[in-house]
Amino acid sequence: MTTTLIKNGTIVTATDSWRGDIYIEDETIAQLGRTIEWPADVNIDATGRLVIPGGIDVHTHMDLPFGGTTSSDDFETGTIAAAHGGTTTIVDFAVQDRGESLRKAWETWMAKAEGKAAIDYGFHMIMREFTPELGREMKDMVGEGVTSFKLFMAYPGVFMMDDASIFSAMQRSGEVGATICMHAENGGVIDVLVRQALARGQTDPKYHALTRPARAEAEATHRAIALAEIAQVPVYIVHLSAAEALAMVTEARDRGVPAYAETCPQYLFLDYQNYEEPGFAGAKYVMSPPLRARERQADLWRGLAGDDLQIVSTDHCPFCIKDKELGLGDFSKIPNGAPGVETRLTLLHDGGVRTGRISLHRWVQICSTAPAKMFGMFPKKGTIAPGSDADLVVWNPERKLTFSHETLHMRCDYSPYAGRTVVGAPDVVLSRGRVIVEDGAFKGKPGSGRFLRRAPRTN
Ligand code: URP
Ligand code: ZN
Ligand code: ZN
Repeated sequence: MTTTLIKNGTIVTATDSWRGDIYIEDETIAQLGRTIEWPADVNIDATGRLVIPGGIDVHTHMDLPFGGTTSSDDFETGTIAAAHGGTTTIVDFAVQDRGESLRKAWETWMAKAEGKAAIDYGFHMIMREFTPELGREMKDMVGEGVTSFKLFMAYPGVFMMDDASIFSAMQRSGEVGATICMHAENGGVIDVLVRQALARGQTDPKYHALTRPARAEAEATHRAIALAEIAQVPVYIVHLSAAEALAMVTEARDRGVPAYAETCPQYLFLDYQNYEEPGFAGAKYVMSPPLRARERQADLWRGLAGDDLQIVSTDHCPFCIKDKELGLGDFSKIPNGAPGVETRLTLLHDGGVRTGRISLHRWVQICSTAPAKMFGMFPKKGTIAPGSDADLVVWNPERKLTFSHETLHMRCDYSPYAGRTVVGAPDVVLSRGRVIVEDGAFKGKPGSGRFLRRAPRTN
């Protein structure tokens, strides 16, 4: 057995903070105490630092074939980058091809991660269609620990499902104990606007945003919640970007409807003006939904503080500039997505905790505890307690970083946050008791991450 002792840190969970020590036996937290003096094989001094549960990012796309290319991080580079940023668990998306079984899709994504992932990982399943056979398979997937399914109201001809299929999948999710995650944008309306813009010769990256209005996100969010209400199941809106969409979630929650939503750092820290950067630079920010007006970001922060938004994930889906250039002369061909798995905790610490928008506890809640509960990983993940996995971050609240793609570890030749200086970063990161990052150096092993068989939602 390997034992590890973390001493003198300020231990912060979603609910508590105290000065103390953590004793780890192999992969598991064995004991918490004010002072633990037992001998240990590995000793970590956390004086002056926080100790938090490892970050959990429930929205990543490693090695995703999309938009005529493939996202540039695979499970090795992407999870190593995640670890550098203090994230010790990801939930990525397996994708079902039309006519393909869910099991085949799951096996394909398991093979992509096997031998590569440096941190633990689970999968949601993207369904492109609903058939009775796929409905039967949803139960099998839940049995394998894939307890959430993502459906799309956008990307006609690629991912988009009609309302009847969405509704049927929702009803089935209720029967099998799964959660439906929804990409809520009105794909039909957006498609018309895109064709009209291109016909007018409006081809620059900014038209990606101008053809995806906030109201199209709000309409789809409202419809997703209404369909879930009729099906009598909860619904989780992914990558919510618009205040108008948040208002739909808030209205439903105020009526006691189990509607949940995540937002992402890009919607809190970047805005429409990024699309106005000269030349083709706006392509770096092409993602769906798009960046919105800066004036409405305060609404998202209020939603996060008040629990109308429960989680911050990243929607990490990086493409290098040469891939973005597939859309030179036609914004609709720019692959949608941006890098972010490494920068989430530090952005939220710097721009959320340090500015007083959220408390330290809320930061831990939205970046680790709530994701663990929402997606069936708690209390193994998402907290610091005896019996929990020793996924821990010794967080230096004073460490200063200036972002650049050269110093970040994501396999992407730009960072949307390049030049931004933030305060707060991990000094040491442990995954199931093993140190995987120390003072900026990766000490882990590709392939040591384990597949997480998730349970249904527990909050
Ligand atoms: O632009 C995005 N969001 N790319 C990833 C795919 C998705 O819809 O999540
Ligand atoms: Zn999406
Ligand atoms: Zn996504």
